[in-house]
Amino acid sequence: MKEHQIITTKDGSHTIYVPELGEHYHSSFGAIQEAQHIFIENGFKRIKKPVVSILEVGFGTGLNCLLSFLEAEKTGQRIIYHAVEKYPLEDDEIAKINYGSILNAGYLFSKIHWVDWMKNMTVNGNTLFKIPYDVLKTLFPQNYDIVYFDAFSPNVQPELWTEKLFSKIFQHLRKDGFLVTYSSKGTVKEALRAAGFFVQRLDGPEGKRHILSAGKEFKGNPPKFIGDEKPKQAPKQTPNG
Ligand SMILES: C[S@@+](CC[C@H](N)C(=O)[O-])C[C@H]1O[C@@H](n2cnc3c(N)ncnc32)[C@H](O)[C@@H]1O
Repeated sequence: MKEHQIITTKDGSHTIYVPELGEHYHSSFGAIQEAQHIFIENGFKRIKKPVVSILEVGFGTGLNCLLSFLEAEKTGQRIIYHAVEKYPLEDDEIAKINYGSILNAGYLFSKIHWVDWMKNMTVNGNTLFKIPYDVLKTLFPQNYDIVYFDAFSPNVQPELWTEKLFSKIFQHLRKDGFLVTYSSKGTVKEALRAAGFFVQRLDGPEGKRHILSAGKEFKGNPPKFIGDEKPKQAPKQTPNG
């Protein structure tokens, strides 16, 4: 088995390259900018509830967890974060990743990784539960407000981007819950729709035209906020305006 390689992306943050798959964990245009755009701006920030439950498919470096906890620190929200990961990274690989120093959150990044697998632990007032299994075989412990779907691409892992797995996720989403993912491939949209989702295409981060949001309910386009805070009303369009 060839070793993982740590690569520096355009925004200075690291990603991991997996030679066997010919895939990176993140976009070469910037791991942090990509994760922030997809999972925080178009994911976590849309939920205005005081306690937000998140399921991540593909925990990897823990970047999405770190960014979510940092955002929750700003807003005063609390997170229940469940993450599934079939191939946990080695400690020495995590130690080389620079997200903690770039985001000025080295201690928080370490704490996220010190947390034992399969134990409910408190990190920064949030609950973190990391599950070291294949998502296809995992029984999700609860229902969620949001699912970060961050597996390897449908080209190399077609078995994960299926109606079957999306149906299982659909059943574990709250009524107003939704999934976000970086792939906007046609087959992914079809599989999500077949599982019962309303699928919406949103603008992607730098280097990517579109991403997907898929909700149990139709949330308008762009999708509305969820929880007690109402979104600002868009001004009515007049024929001239
Ligand atoms: C594109 S990487 C993203 C990782 C992570 N979200 C991050 O920001 O570092 C995909 C991740 O999905 C994990 N993965 C692949 N197949 C899986 C499976 N069947 N069940 C759970 N995790 C899986 C990989 O090991 C890898 O960590």
